Amino acid sequence: MAGETTGAGGTISTVGVVGLGTMGAGIAEVFARGGLRVVAVEITAEALEHGRATLARSTDRAVERGRLSAADRDGLLGRITFAVGLPALAEVDLVVEAVPERLDLKRRLFADLDRICRPTAILASNTSSLSVTEIAVATGRPDRVVGMHFFNPAPVMKLVEVVRTVTTSTEVVGAVQALCARLGKVGVTIGDRAGFIANALLFGYLNQAVAMVESGYASRAEIDAAMRLGCGLPMGPLALLDLIGLDTAYEILDTMYRRGGRDRRHAPVPLLRQMVTAGLLGRKSGQGFYRYERPGSAAVVPDGQTPLAAPPDGARPVRRVGVVGTADAVTGLGELFGQAGYDVLVVSRDAGRTGGLAGLADADLVVEAVADELAAKQALFAELAEVCKPEVLLATTTGTLPVIDIAMAARRPAEVVGLHLIDPTRAGAVVEIVRTVRSSAEAVATARAVCAGLGRTGVVCGDRAGFVVRALLFPYLNDAVRMLEASYASVDDIDHAMTLGCGYPAGPFEVLDRLGPEVVLRLQRSLYRESREPGLAPAPLLEQLVTAGRRFRDRAAG
Ligand SMILES: NC(=O)c1ccc[n+]([C@@H]2O[C@H](COP(=O)([O-])OP(=O)(O)OC[C@H]3O[C@@H](n4cnc5c(N)ncnc54)[C@H](O)[C@@H]3O)[C@@H](O)[C@H]2O)c1
Repeated sequence: MAGETTGAGGTISTVGVVGLGTMGAGIAEVFARGGLRVVAVEITAEALEHGRATLARSTDRAVERGRLSAADRDGLLGRITFAVGLPALAEVDLVVEAVPERLDLKRRLFADLDRICRPTAILASNTSSLSVTEIAVATGRPDRVVGMHFFNPAPVMKLVEVVRTVTTSTEVVGAVQALCARLGKVGVTIGDRAGFIANALLFGYLNQAVAMVESGYASRAEIDAAMRLGCGLPMGPLALLDLIGLDTAYEILDTMYRRGGRDRRHAPVPLLRQMVTAGLLGRKSGQGFYRYERPGSAAVVPDGQTPLAAPPDGARPVRRVGVVGTADAVTGLGELFGQAGYDVLVVSRDAGRTGGLAGLADADLVVEAVADELAAKQALFAELAEVCKPEVLLATTTGTLPVIDIAMAARRPAEVVGLHLIDPTRAGAVVEIVRTVRSSAEAVATARAVCAGLGRTGVVCGDRAGFVVRALLFPYLNDAVRMLEASYASVDDIDHAMTLGCGYPAGPFEVLDRLGPEVVLRLQRSLYRESREPGLAPAPLLEQLVTAGRRFRDRAAG
């Protein structure tokens, strides 16, 4: 029957949504789009008006973009009743709650819903990190309480994590899964664990990106550009935090820290707390890591850092570029610089075959790409220091060795930087410009100008293992392996959670297999050695797969 979903637990035709903030307004829209009648509830008339306006804006935008006809919009909005206070929910079949992420608040709310709603009604929480079990036992019907975790923005993201506690009945899970299917969503049923699948993998990464901003390791806009362009993510971590809301993100991290084994990577970075206290909540307040046209808007107002700053003054002119390295590497790099109009001199240095460096005497820039071994690189930089002119920029393309160890061998460390090219053939691709504690401002400015000259996106960062992209990406991959190891979710469920819930182009296991588990393990070991952070220790299953020479998807198949 139109407008109804029948599960073993009965028929769902009218749903309630409590809290019409960042998530609730979108969830109400999803239900109304799916043909259900919706009772949308807020705590005050003002908040209700705000929620109604959010829904109107979102559906108007869908009409403008041709995703919804005007008649369908009117029909959709006509199915929603707005009300202040919970008594309006007396007759609904299911309620989804999306009030702030605080356990005491949710437990009180569920106790009230239990009194007000029909005994057969299903009570669902959109919590990201709190224990659904603890919420359920605040009611007299814990068998009818479930987690229904939507993703932001709810109308766009396909995933719903359906959280089943030890008390949730099978028929309730079945009814909620049927409802997800009817809404065009993909429901993944999982147990009640802090952060479920997606947030357990996402929030350590987001927090670490904030730590990078706080410590001045790299700038806000460059970190975001690095993750968008270097990993193909739909948005960078700081822009995503602005979308989530910094207050909500703070509460999620705080809960994950307490519930998830006190992993320090989830202890909210102090900068987050300061921003929340200062009212810098992200898009919803009009300013977070970025400034927006007005509260609720997605349009970023340009400032000193956004769009990315032009190369600063002080760059030295670069015309002649020497490229020294293995045959494969120098061919690629030679083409890259040649196509950008530089005069290129290529010196091939494969094992047992060493070209001379004399031709590099008047190079403005020398880029090194020999085998990734410290001794080989140090020997080459010592030779370059003898041959090159004093004001040359010397760059190493290493992705795994500390740049300062190489720079010191050159005896002119001020002129040495790292230039770590990620997927370099792609226009706009990221180049991590690694500034050591000895790099001069001119050297860094020159490197920036060279990246701009190549049509690539330069991201200046400090000299730590993994630089920006892999320091943020690999711990997340390692965490996915730990989750698999704990048998919390399957390879497919974890990959789906990140693609369908967060819009990632590929899930962590697809990425691990593509990069090679051995590559990830090697750098993860460096990250762990450098930081001594227990949460960064390589997952035993990752070690085992590398030892066995297998990939994650072979393992799943076998
Ligand atoms: N923000 C996200 O990206 C995101 C994603 C998935 C899940 N969640 C979860 O969704 C929930 C809501 O988060 P949010 O970011 O939408 O929060 P929000 O602060 O944007 O919105 C919360 C809304 O709840 C209302 N509210 C507060 N107390 C209420 C009450 N007693 N009765 C009715 N309404 C009340 C507030 O007025 C506000 O409009 C949290 O549990 C959060 O963890 C958030």
